[in-house]
Amino acid sequence: MKSMIVAGVVAFGVLAAGPALASDKLWKDGGCLKCHDMDKKKKGESVKTLGAKFKGKDLDKLAADLKAEKDDHPKPKMSDADLKAALTWMVAQ
Ligand code: HEC
Repeated sequence: MKSMIVAGVVAFGVLAAGPALASDKLWKDGGCLKCHDMDKKKKGESVKTLGAKFKGKDLDKLAADLKAEKDDHPKPKMSDADLKAALTWMVAQ
């Protein structure tokens, strides 16, 4: 059941973002991994911790907060579609 939900979320993310890559490539290329590690806390929380925290949450709002540099978070260096794909991938981890 859980894997079906995850698969659904991933499929939705892929559909919503078009052919954009739903993978850690966005996090790597966007410089996110400078401060976020896959499973260890670095400057920011790990991708897995953030994924668990934001699973089921409003990712559009999260993307908007990141773009607005809320809490001094650096502005994501990627398109809106890529950011959405990166966050969708994050909650699937
Ligand atoms: C210069 C370091 C740095 C970079 C680069 C960075 N982050 Fe962060 N990020 C942080 C820190 C520190 C926090 C925790 C403090 C906070 O909430 O802003 C954080 C928090 C977050 C959160 C949780 C926000 C919340 O409201 O709790 C998300 C999601 C996130 N980062 C995603 C990204 C993505 C996606 C990228 C790449 C586009 C990225 N970060 C690049 C340092 C960074």
